[in-house]
Amino acid sequence: MTVNRGSQIREGKAKILYQTDRPGTIIQYFKDDATAFNALKKGQIKDKGILNNAISCWMFKHLEKSGVKTHFLERLSDREMLVKKLEIIPVEVVIRNRATGSILKRLGLAKGRPFQPPLIEYFYKSDELSDPLIGETHIAYFKWATDEQLAFVRAQAFKVNDCLCRVCDEVGLELIDFKLEFGLDEKDEVLLGDEFTPDGCRLWDKKTGEPMDKDRFRQDLGGVEEAYREVYRRLESFFGQKT
Ligand SMILES: Nc1ncnc2c1ncn2[C@@H]1O[C@H](COP(=O)(O)OP(=O)(O)O)[C@@H](O)[C@H]1O
Ligand SMILES: [Mg+2]
Repeated sequence: MTVNRGSQIREGKAKILYQTDRPGTIIQYFKDDATAFNALKKGQIKDKGILNNAISCWMFKHLEKSGVKTHFLERLSDREMLVKKLEIIPVEVVIRNRATGSILKRLGLAKGRPFQPPLIEYFYKSDELSDPLIGETHIAYFKWATDEQLAFVRAQAFKVNDCLCRVCDEVGLELIDFKLEFGLDEKDEVLLGDEFTPDGCRLWDKKTGEPMDKDRFRQDLGGVEEAYREVYRRLESFFGQKT
């Protein structure tokens, strides 16, 4: 069944959302635009949209097989993914397997300190407020999710971690941390939405410890495109080239 792209719903920092003529669905179009530090730093990473779309499609398909419910329906083209339309819960769910990034200064931790079991954190999704750290009490108080939905989100986030740590390990990468977004579909079911890409996670090469993700862009380390392409290549061989 073909699906036709309709009008633009919104343009975000990394993707554009479009209506479709298939009820209950939208298209995510992956751009090459890259932002960091709440869009204070802006740039482009050549072919990032193509690589991220493919990486995200592989990961979502794999997660579905492992029992995680996602919005993924199909890859439509190089840069387009068909997904179920969700009402996004305005909470970014972060899982950390090692300390790096914002938590270092916030809690005075040493870079690379392992979190075992993994640490879960929540941030209020708001560009104006720079995505502040929140607790479960805020989610309940402001009714961003019910207790039952939040319990499900937590469980799904840890399941994503188990599942994708294994995939990354198989391809010589360590999954250091990542951000997830969840939302409600037409039937009020909680599904994993948005994307899983090197824009929203940290991947360190197992042998060298080198970052293979957006930290290369954030910290001007160079080799940004090469890192994204290398992650793509390794996952391509793991997933047998199927997107
Ligand atoms: N299935 C979905 N239905 C509706 N909105 C979604 C879905 N998946 C992701 N989104 C939202 O679409 C936007 C994706 O574009 P992106 O460029 O990542 O935006 P942002 O600048 O907010 O990070 C995000 O706001 C995300 O919450
Ligand atoms: Mg985003």
